[in-house]
Amino acid sequence: MNFLRKNYGILKNPTKKNICSWLSSHRIKNFYIENNKQKKERIKKILNNVKKKKITKVTNLKRKKIWDKGWKEVYLKYKISHKLSSLFPIYQPTPGVIRLFNEFVIFKDRFIFDKLSTIFLKKIFFYFRDCKTIFDFGCGTGKNSILLKKKFPQKNVVALDRSFYSSRIIKEINNVYKFDIKFKKFDFFKPNLLIKIPQNSGVLTVTALEQVGTKFKNFLLYLKKFKPSVIVNLEPEDFFYKKNLYDSSMLKFHKKKGYLTGYIKHLKYLEKKKIIKIICIQRLYFGSEDNEALNLIVWEFLNG
Ligand SMILES: C[S@@+](CC[C@H](N)C(=O)[O-])C[C@H]1O[C@@H](n2cnc3c(N)ncnc32)[C@H](O)[C@@H]1O
Repeated sequence: MNFLRKNYGILKNPTKKNICSWLSSHRIKNFYIENNKQKKERIKKILNNVKKKKITKVTNLKRKKIWDKGWKEVYLKYKISHKLSSLFPIYQPTPGVIRLFNEFVIFKDRFIFDKLSTIFLKKIFFYFRDCKTIFDFGCGTGKNSILLKKKFPQKNVVALDRSFYSSRIIKEINNVYKFDIKFKKFDFFKPNLLIKIPQNSGVLTVTALEQVGTKFKNFLLYLKKFKPSVIVNLEPEDFFYKKNLYDSSMLKFHKKKGYLTGYIKHLKYLEKKKIIKIICIQRLYFGSEDNEALNLIVWEFLNG
């Protein structure tokens, strides 16, 4: 099934004109698409930056402190402002630059990444339609838990993260929205089996499993214990990159960060062994300047 084509009406090889009308159809204004010369220059700049910049790998233990510090800042801001946009973390030095359908699109809006993500996520949450409870693993600032709760007020939402400050933010979100999102401290590397996933549950990870690099097996074993109804991963993954300049600039960044690698290959192996069924693997052709962070991987466990 071509999920994108069926649900978003986006062509697989869209023209600049199609990108413009797709954005306009979502009432997004004030943008331009870079021409081929600008595109080449941007890729050159990205490749140069990746080469020169000192980047701490996501699996480095120092990263835990970096997340805690970042989420503490978000918590303190959100506590005062209660603005949804304060839960949109800006990771990029140039936040208005977006990779969209193989082009670089430049926006004035600094929060455009989250606005566009929301469009994709709202559609993708369709996979949770029959779930009673949804687990948002690596919830970060809880912005996706808010989206889940807004879309499905009757469903239970559990937000999980390794960072203490995520718990504080979720508490504040519950106060602001009068939600009852539960928070659980959770580490992908050492999953706590006492955190049970009940029947009819869905699992979501959004740019969260990316943080484990190649060490995703403990999390998979944890999931296997409870066999949730559906698992939806929106992650950068090495599987998606092709051999062209546009993609290779992302792959270099991906490798330097140490993002999720070999995950889809492993899922395909599990499918061959009849342990799981892959429902959808779909590149969304959407991301920030450095990489396409959201690619769709949907799967389920087979019974028995
Ligand atoms: C890029 S953020 C994504 C947050 C959120 N899902 C979103 O879409 O905004 C990655 C999150 O993963 C969390 N994380 C990193 N390593 C983790 C681990 N080993 N176990 C659980 N969470 C982890 C970080 O604390 C952070 O909140």
